[in-house]
Amino acid sequence: DMDGDVATFTLTAQTGTSEFVPGTTTATWGFNGAYLGPTLLLRRGQPVRVSVRNELPETTTVHWHGIKLPAAADGGPHQPIEPGDSWSAEFTPDQPAMTGWYHPHPHGNTAQQVYRGLAGLLWLQDDDDAAEAGIPSEYGVDDVPLVVQDKRLAEDGELMDASFGTNVGVLGQTIVVNGQVNPLFEAEREVTRFRLVNGSNTRVYGFRFADGRTFAQIASDGGLLAEPFLTDAVHLSPGERAEIVVRLVPGETAQLISAEPRMGSVADPDDVGARDELAILTVTGPPAAADAGAQEDADADRTVPAVTAPEDLGLPAVLAEVPRHRADDAVETRQFRLQGFQINSRAMSMSRIDFAAPVDQLELWQVVNMDPIPHNFHIHNAQFQVHDVDGAEPPPDLAGWKDTVYVEPQRTTRLLVRFERYTDPEVPYMYHCHLLYHEDEGMMGQFTVV
Ligand code: C2O
Ligand code: CU
Ligand code: CU
Repeated sequence: DMDGDVATFTLTAQTGTSEFVPGTTTATWGFNGAYLGPTLLLRRGQPVRVSVRNELPETTTVHWHGIKLPAAADGGPHQPIEPGDSWSAEFTPDQPAMTGWYHPHPHGNTAQQVYRGLAGLLWLQDDDDAAEAGIPSEYGVDDVPLVVQDKRLAEDGELMDASFGTNVGVLGQTIVVNGQVNPLFEAEREVTRFRLVNGSNTRVYGFRFADGRTFAQIASDGGLLAEPFLTDAVHLSPGERAEIVVRLVPGETAQLISAEPRMGSVADPDDVGARDELAILTVTGPPAAADAGAQEDADADRTVPAVTAPEDLGLPAVLAEVPRHRADDAVETRQFRLQGFQINSRAMSMSRIDFAAPVDQLELWQVVNMDPIPHNFHIHNAQFQVHDVDGAEPPPDLAGWKDTVYVEPQRTTRLLVRFERYTDPEVPYMYHCHLLYHEDEGMMGQFTVV
């Protein structure tokens, strides 16, 4: 909806029912529907106004994950919406195109609300014409979001409570993609871009194709990488996003699965889902060209050329300009020790602000996972860069803009972050583990930008 130059959206958080198992319905929550919510198309530089109405029986909030914006519009725990009330957020995104998402963030109750289905996509575009550069960009046609979640269903098909879990929270064996169980995507083109969103509470995925095929990763949380790179797996912890480009030839069927997620040396791999192998999505190749009647025989024994360079997928060698932050330029260093549902031995308190970060100042944040279990680290109002992981240069999937990063047990990840433009001495932003059970248990802190 356009209202002058302002993009306006209305979201209603509401209750409903979904059918994850044919023939059985279960209570779910969604925005403007029973499960998940609409994709909000945002344009860089265009003001946005989102009105959120809460028709749930409990307090909620809506947070815009990945967007740099004023603290009062962030939708964190300090912007509660009581049942029956409305709240409106106004902000103007000014950052590169990316796949963001929105979800509730009420203090102590985020896990359950997201698990029931409250989440949606933020599709941020900017002027760069990706299509012209050869990057698939037609929404739903060759540019397809995949919001991946795992659900734990009782025998009768009912969604179980998010608190039924191990020390990382709830893990389920039923995969739901964009709200669908056993999803199928029929590609229309030979080259398709998938935007993978880990919208799960707890699970870390190792996305790959069952046949081990090579594809390109082109973007991380905060948008396009400087250059595409070829890989056969993408690892995402809760809250993280990645965009991949894959080739599918006419007549073929491929399976996107999750196996061998990169989780580091966790104490009990079974307890945290590290050994699970899960079917994510069935994909079929595009229809054979219409004029290809006699060509069909030829197609049958056509050997599929291997993807050996991003150019084989039509991708440009350079995707975006990603200026590197330099650790030498950091004027402040901060430590974050993740341990026992706390950060730096303190649990989240709504009334404690841990520090004030001066605006436009480059900072080095050292995040240490002291535990033998998985954690990750998310910062509001920021896209940061990974400087190193235990002293080693980040792998290519961590070389671009990030807002959430997995932190392996007993390892230190150092981030370079700068908070731009928005200041507010009163209203804090959050940093936290995005395993939602941990966040709710107190593995979160608050900072202001001044
Ligand atoms: Cu995706 Cu603080 O959240
Ligand atoms: Cu966030
Ligand atoms: Cu954690």
